[in-house]
Amino acid sequence: MGTTQDTAGDIVTERMQLVREMLARVRKVAEAQIRRDSLDAIKAELVALAARRELFPIDEFPPIEGGNASMYRLSEDADHRYALYIVAPAPGQFAPPHDHSTWAVIAGVHGRENNKLYKRTDDGTQPGVALIEPSGELDIVPGTAIALMPDDIHSIHLGADGPHANLHLYGMSVEHCPERRMYSRSKGTYKIFPAATGVQKARGAD
Ligand SMILES: [Fe+2]
Repeated sequence: MGTTQDTAGDIVTERMQLVREMLARVRKVAEAQIRRDSLDAIKAELVALAARRELFPIDEFPPIEGGNASMYRLSEDADHRYALYIVAPAPGQFAPPHDHSTWAVIAGVHGRENNKLYKRTDDGTQPGVALIEPSGELDIVPGTAIALMPDDIHSIHLGADGPHANLHLYGMSVEHCPERRMYSRSKGTYKIFPAATGVQKARGAD
């Protein structure tokens, strides 16, 4: 009853309308084989959506205990492609170097998320072995985004500041990506890590 509820409902309605319109354009871009230049177009789409920060009020997405991601699903196709999340980890969290086995685009909405990028320096022929070296870093803040090809490797570092929330768009749902690799730079190894669990559904999600 009140204005607060009405406003919250309006936010969800407008948010989902923009999400659906954006994903319709993204599907067209990604229909052909995904390449870095197509990811750039998708990145621009996600940055534009993320700029509507008022549609992603931080209070709606508290960090999730348990599970492994603090992820809220906004949309996902029936075949699990084109999965869009708002990810809201607690301050201080850290995700070790990993790939996604699918393309990924991350755009800043709230806070500052430091991403480090790595390049692989071995030839990839030995199972379980991977040598990685830092190749760059980027702070994801409102107005910035990062695009990652399926084999690209990044790690995520959150400061004590916060709250944090970013939009993540993946070619395939992280609940249906069982072949992602997590790397240990110090050991020179990688492990396959399981599909994500504990993802919650955002209000109004498709
Ligand atoms: Fe990631």
